[in-house]
Amino acid sequence: MYAAVVRSFDEPPTYDVFPEPAGPDVVEVVAAGLHPRVRSAANGTHYTSEGSLPMVPGIDGVARTADGDLLYFVADDNAVGTMAERAAVDRRRAVVLPAGTDPVAVAAGMNPAMSSWVALRRRANFQGGSVLVLGATGNAGQLAVQIAKHLGASKVIGAGRDSARLKLLTTLGADEAVTLDAVAEAAANVDVVLDYLWGEPTEQAMSAILHARSDRAQPLTWIQIGSMAARELTLPSNLLRAAALTIIGSGQGSVSGRDILAELPELATLITSGALDITPRTVPLADVQHAWTEPPRPGVRVVLIP
Ligand SMILES: NC(=O)c1ccc[n+]([C@@H]2O[C@H](COP(=O)([O-])OP(=O)(O)OC[C@H]3O[C@@H](n4cnc5c(N)ncnc54)[C@H](OP(=O)(O)O)[C@@H]3O)[C@@H](O)[C@H]2O)c1
Repeated sequence: MYAAVVRSFDEPPTYDVFPEPAGPDVVEVVAAGLHPRVRSAANGTHYTSEGSLPMVPGIDGVARTADGDLLYFVADDNAVGTMAERAAVDRRRAVVLPAGTDPVAVAAGMNPAMSSWVALRRRANFQGGSVLVLGATGNAGQLAVQIAKHLGASKVIGAGRDSARLKLLTTLGADEAVTLDAVAEAAANVDVVLDYLWGEPTEQAMSAILHARSDRAQPLTWIQIGSMAARELTLPSNLLRAAALTIIGSGQGSVSGRDILAELPELATLITSGALDITPRTVPLADVQHAWTEPPRPGVRVVLIP
């Protein structure tokens, strides 16, 4: 079959022939999203990467079964990835999509949308309250704004560095959209932070928010979801003593595969309903090398079509 094939962690994948996937449940891939997590697996930097090459990238996708069902599925870490004509599916990591589902919207939106959905529902036990989305201008961030509202947030503040894209967030339901230097003023008393940045912007925002809080004993749950700015940060010890700060993470591992999967049908229905603003750009799989190296367009998710 044809697939995107990574032969070196320093090079983009090429469209090439690759052995057929093995397994009892092989499906025809319809669409697969080019998410940041796909890139980090394909350049060997993701924490689950085992360094084996050649490999087919792609962590999730939409596929058609032999029975004609449309599935959203997540590939096993060590299996052939989803950027291929066919993939082996483990039904414990797949959900059947409702009739009328737009496969491209699901392939584009499920991964970024589940980042906040799972964080709020499975890690924060979110029952309402106010939410700051730190790094709100990307695909996952702008969906986090919409999903926090959908899940009952009393107030949602989006923060990012791209002022032009920040304006868009209020049209997506954010009560406020601010640049990173204005975060303490806007979000001093938030209950939950969904953090897509980490590194220096998080160091600054965390310190500024905790110092600006009217009641330092008011609980603040800070959820680490992405590390677009950096993988590490320096955490002054006094921040943990001087405020009711709880730092947790949300992702593969901190939430079990079973629990993530349990959230997907409802999220798939929400995406299918058209309620979430998702902007895919479809590219033929044969053009994967070009799609990989072109500069990403903010808020647009490339979806490869075999
Ligand atoms: N844990 C999970 O469950 C989970 C699930 C899905 C995704 N994620 C993670 O979430 C993150 C975002 O994913 P995505 O799909 O939204 O990616 P994306 O669409 O590429 O967006 C990334 C955004 O990060 C912003 N950014 C990058 N560096 C920044 C910096 N130094 N300061 C401020 N903003 C910065 C960019 O803003 P500009 O427009 O200003 O460049 C861009 O809008 C990734 O790290 C991804 O791996 C986690």
